Amino acid sequence: MIMNMYVTVKKLPVKGLTSFLFLFFILLSSLSVHAQTAEAAKNFAECRACHTIGGGRLVGPDLKGVTEKHSEKWLVSFIRNSQEMVKSGDKEAVKIFNEYSKIPMPSHPALSDAQIKDILLYIKNGGKVAGAGQAKEKPNVKKTEATETVSAVEHNLNNQREGRNNLGITALIMGILMLLSLIDLIFTHYLKAKWVHYIIVLSGLWVVGEWSYDFATSLGRQQYYQPDQPIWFSHKVHAGQNQIDCEYCHFTAETSMHAGIPPASVCMNCHSQVKQGKRTGKKEIAKIYAAIRKNKPIKWVKVDNLPDFVYFNHEQHVKVGKLDCKECHGDVAQMDQIAQVNDLSMGWCLDCHRKHKVQFVNNKFYAQYKALHDKLKAGKIKDVTVKMVGGEDCQKCHY
Ligand code: HEC
Ligand code: HEC
Ligand code: HEC
Ligand code: HEC
Ligand code: HEC
Ligand code: HEC
Repeated sequence: MIMNMYVTVKKLPVKGLTSFLFLFFILLSSLSVHAQTAEAAKNFAECRACHTIGGGRLVGPDLKGVTEKHSEKWLVSFIRNSQEMVKSGDKEAVKIFNEYSKIPMPSHPALSDAQIKDILLYIKNGGKVAGAGQAKEKPNVKKTEATETVSAVEHNLNNQREGRNNLGITALIMGILMLLSLIDLIFTHYLKAKWVHYIIVLSGLWVVGEWSYDFATSLGRQQYYQPDQPIWFSHKVHAGQNQIDCEYCHFTAETSMHAGIPPASVCMNCHSQVKQGKRTGKKEIAKIYAAIRKNKPIKWVKVDNLPDFVYFNHEQHVKVGKLDCKECHGDVAQMDQIAQVNDLSMGWCLDCHRKHKVQFVNNKFYAQYKALHDKLKAGKIKDVTVKMVGGEDCQKCHY
């Protein structure tokens, strides 16, 4: 560092007070700039999936010269959360976002300002760690979710599924006990106290009854269904860690009945460049290339299934009803492997329709309900639920 400064001094015209002041300020600014460390190279490793420094465009722009293009403040907030800036309408951010076919750059909430400035220096130096002899700071990157393999949501799902299995096992054991005590009561008379038999039989009937009810009512339904998919596709990696918007992939959710599953060409927007993952290496991503090569669609297994006689429309719920995907699909952004979290029964649909208030006033969709508008104005009702606009009519959900 001092050597470098010395060379600079010799090259500059060291004459007079102005030069002295000039040097003084260079020295001052070089001291106030956060010293670039080897940690920057480590932190930049993640950026390399989408960026080069002077090697041309990948998923994102070539970052060579980017520190001259924008202010440091802009860059820090862009790298921390570019989508926030795009949403707030920042002109520069919106422009690049559109230029790069609206592929969102993932946010980096775990990086501190100092760490980001460190990365910026690394970029400025063309991807080299300046003064490699410097004392190395210990990398103190916070643990991100990537290191955590089972999220709370998944843990919960496992518990619920286990609960159901346990009920089945208990019912089986109780069934055997009941049979034994009946045999003893009628034939062997091994136990003298008859009340023991009665208690076993009665509690056995109760458990078996509970289990049969659970089994019969969920027949054809598959709550907690979590099939293996042809590619290890993780919503936690994409919608969670990389914060890709649900509708970037499920782009028909607001405009049609089906949310739809993205074709392999959408995966290729990023995976033409991102060729390996942290957990599955090249193996799973290679399956996308195989599908493209053979021109065969990937055979995803459908998770949420309603019977054919039920009509369900995404546009109605997402656009008109303004519901978040979470309300029906759970915290998908925390799931590596997607599961059906609600039972999708008629009771489930109706329960929400009875409770959920629609945004009734100033909504052209509900302009036709004159009687309800009048009642609202007269103060006879406080708000309008889905049920009141027909959410309980059989023919709305059944053809
Ligand atoms: C998944 C791919 C991806 C990753 C990983 C990624 N970026 Fe980006 N980056 C993009 C895309 C795409 C853009 C274009 C802007 C947009 O779409 O929002 C971009 C834009 C940028 C810009 C603005 C460039 C310009 O010309 O104005 C900077 C700076 C930047 N990224 C830095 C980083 C840094 C630093 C990291 C690592 C901490 C990183 N990016 C990680 C995809 C990514
Ligand atoms: C009101 C509840 C509800 C909301 C809100 C909702 N979904 Fe769905 N979703 C369902 C049901 C029910 C199914 C099963 C539909 C079927 O089998 O016909 C489903 C199916 C799907 C499917 C499978 C493919 C398809 O279109 O059938 C995807 C993907 C999906 N939803 C994604 C989303 C996304 C993304 C959002 C948010 C933008 C969302 N959903 C919001 C209830 C909902
Ligand atoms: C907007 C960009 C983007 C799109 C679109 C996208 N991915 Fe990814 N994908 C990524 C990023 C970023 C990673 C993380 C790479 C890493 O682990 O560093 C990734 C990782 C993966 C991995 C490896 C996961 C691991 O941890 O090993 C697989 C498999 C994958 N994606 C499959 C898909 C499939 C299938 C599609 C299409 C349905 C798709 N991706 C669409 C950006 C994208
Ligand atoms: C990078 C693309 C991508 C993003 C982003 C994405 N999904 Fe998906 N989604 C897929 C793919 C591919 C499948 C099919 C494979 C599977 O089920 O895991 C899928 C499946 C689903 C399913 C199950 C559909 C079925 O078969 O019934 C639901 C529900 C869903 N996504 C909801 C969401 C929600 C909610 C978000 C945002 C939090 C989201 N997705 C973000 C690509 C994506
Ligand atoms: C989390 C709450 C919620 C759940 C669960 C839900 N809905 Fe809805 N539903 C709404 C809201 C809000 C609307 C109002 C939007 C509108 O007026 O079209 C709506 C409207 C509807 C409509 C249109 C009613 C009308 O009067 O035009 C139908 C049909 C419908 N839902 C079917 C279903 C079915 C089938 C299911 C179950 C598989 C379901 N919904 C589950 C919230 C929900
Ligand atoms: C908000 C949507 C909705 C409305 C309104 C609705 N249903 Fe259903 N209905 C469903 C769903 C979803 C299922 C499938 C449940 C399942 O898979 O267990 C269903 C299933 C049924 C079944 C099959 C039996 C069963 O439980 O599987 C019958 C019969 C039925 N509905 C009758 C009616 C009648 C009669 C009305 C009017 C009073 C009505 N439904 C109103 C959503 C609705």
